[in-house]
Amino acid sequence: MLYNLCMLKLFTPYASDFGRANLTIKHFPDTESYVLIPQIKSLKNKKVIIYNRLYPEPEKRIFELLLILSRVKEETKHIELFVPYLPYARQDRENKKGEALSADVLCGILKSSGVKKLTTYDCHFLPKPGIFIRNDLTIENKSAGTELLAYAKKYFGKEEFCVVSPDQGASYFTDNAQGFTMNKKRRRVKEHGLETEIHSMECDNELDVKGKNICILDDIVASGGTIIYAAKHLKKLGAKKIIVGATHGVFCGDKIAEKILKSSCSRIFVTNSILNQDKVVKVLNLEI
Ligand code: R5P
Repeated sequence: MLYNLCMLKLFTPYASDFGRANLTIKHFPDTESYVLIPQIKSLKNKKVIIYNRLYPEPEKRIFELLLILSRVKEETKHIELFVPYLPYARQDRENKKGEALSADVLCGILKSSGVKKLTTYDCHFLPKPGIFIRNDLTIENKSAGTELLAYAKKYFGKEEFCVVSPDQGASYFTDNAQGFTMNKKRRRVKEHGLETEIHSMECDNELDVKGKNICILDDIVASGGTIIYAAKHLKKLGAKKIIVGATHGVFCGDKIAEKILKSSCSRIFVTNSILNQDKVVKVLNLEI
């Protein structure tokens, strides 16, 4: 109780849908960021929770967060951070010798900047919801799986459906539903840049989806390649109606959601972890 009385929430302008923004972020003409925390003195020795979004423009958002933390940590040691989508989480292991691990770098920076605990949703490098430690940073990984599943139930109404996750990373999405995991996704790196495309997607045991409605659940939809490939494969196997739910609608490219809907999918729904203006996408609000 006493602890609660000593808690203060800071909302950046990028997270003002979670609470009224109470710190200022502006940009100089050369685009450099400026941060002002008007009530800085009232943070003294309080537990402070910072609500923020780090996507889109992750590098800029991360640097602004470091500016915020630089001031907050002068006042208190009890800093927690909530970011619904954690960027730079994909490169979490060294597949090729010499690759830099962005997941570790980001966690390390946050820890050394004073963050005691980070809360996020369906973090790419974590295998399931729960409390984890990465590069010394404590992370509470929540999952939007229940909300996504509830939406699918509402969508299909009395009709039965089964849940499919397109790869092992998202397999925990099927834990609370009778579902399948497609466990052989391979990606081929294109010659230029880091764009990837799906090479194959199969299951050890062939999926029994003939005549069934399907809800594909994944943590992230980025280029849409995973979902489009999975939906095509499921259709080939005789699936009936396919809908797609994901926690994070990154949609990095032109008209990604439209492309997914033009493939074999009837509906795409994501959460508000990333602010999305796309009218064809149904957005579910995360309750914090
Ligand atoms: C990968 O392991 C993730 O779970 C998603 O499947 C992936 O990030 C989706 O990316 P894209 O939409 O570019 O295929």
